[in-house]
Amino acid sequence: MNRIFSGVQPTGGLHLGNYLGAIRNFVTLQDSYHCIYCVVDLHAVTTWQDPAALKANTREVTAAYLAAGVDPERCIIFNQSQVGEHAELAWIFNCVARMGWLNRMTQFKEKAGKHRENASVGLFAYPNLMAADILLYKATHVPVGDDQKQHLELTRDIAQKFNNDFGVDFFPICEPLILGSATRVMSLRDGKSKMSKSDPSDYSRIAMTDEADAIAQKIRKAKTDPDPLPGPEALGPDGEVPEDARGARPEACNLLGIYAALAERSLAEVLGEQEGAQFSRFKEDLTELAVAKLGPIGAEMKRLMAEPDHVDAILRRGAERAHAIAHPILDEVHEIVGFLRP
Ligand code: TYM
Repeated sequence: MNRIFSGVQPTGGLHLGNYLGAIRNFVTLQDSYHCIYCVVDLHAVTTWQDPAALKANTREVTAAYLAAGVDPERCIIFNQSQVGEHAELAWIFNCVARMGWLNRMTQFKEKAGKHRENASVGLFAYPNLMAADILLYKATHVPVGDDQKQHLELTRDIAQKFNNDFGVDFFPICEPLILGSATRVMSLRDGKSKMSKSDPSDYSRIAMTDEADAIAQKIRKAKTDPDPLPGPEALGPDGEVPEDARGARPEACNLLGIYAALAERSLAEVLGEQEGAQFSRFKEDLTELAVAKLGPIGAEMKRLMAEPDHVDAILRRGAERAHAIAHPILDEVHEIVGFLRP
């Protein structure tokens, strides 16, 4: 069976983008793959994290996986720092990846901004650790949102270079799984920037734990334009919104994509139904749908977060199972690299 690996950073404030771009797909994929879902706390500390908040946020991501429907029996759920092999393999990849490759990573440029000299070394080497996460389990498929595409390209380059350098066919070349109609959920305040945890405005995102009235208020205040929704003929032959139309009405396209993803229907179906609707009407429908889909997940997350011992036990058990897969693979890597094991 093909193996899936994916992860989410415990940096607080999980939002609709994390859910639709990643976590929801984790649930559907568990039926057809052997899945390993990680809470990537080693990645989180590439930028400063308050220690108590990091613990709480690690439990929050775990609770989100569980509340969304990831089954901890069928899948492995664990936090990265409990399996030391991630950091060990990342070191080896620090010696495989080239500075030039990492210099091209747009996420580093975005996160480091103008203060590049002040960014942690860990933030620069972040993609090597991500490659280690995936390749430590020889995962073949990686479900992520669109923003992780470049990191997965790098993972493929690292696997290829390692195989070439050592003359082996050891690491698989993994495939990204970027699924659904909301692979890049945009801010509710600005349809040209990604919905993100770091946006200073709370109104830019819907949190997975938002209550119904907060969801309603954020959708009501979401930026739109004065035109009604078009019919399905506005879509391209691939059933997607054409690039120029997206550029002209970014906020409208974003809300449409969110609706389709939450309703688990195609854009054509949604436009067929909503053709000619004004945004005031459409927003009411969207609110109802978002509350129906996210409400129970948010409530279950809160219930689980109030039971930290239960959550920690799931992570501990997951870490044991992850370690049992990772350890022999890392042993083989050591052999390939030439580390002496007396
Ligand atoms: P992170 O924690 O930033 O995001 C977790 C997942 O959510 C997706 N995502 C989005 N999808 C759609 N629209 C958005 N606005 C949006 N924002 C976030 C991300 O694409 C991601 O899938 N580097 C990763 C974590 C990671 C990882 C891995 C992922 C570490 N090791 C190995 C896969 C495999 C990250 O920062 O995700």
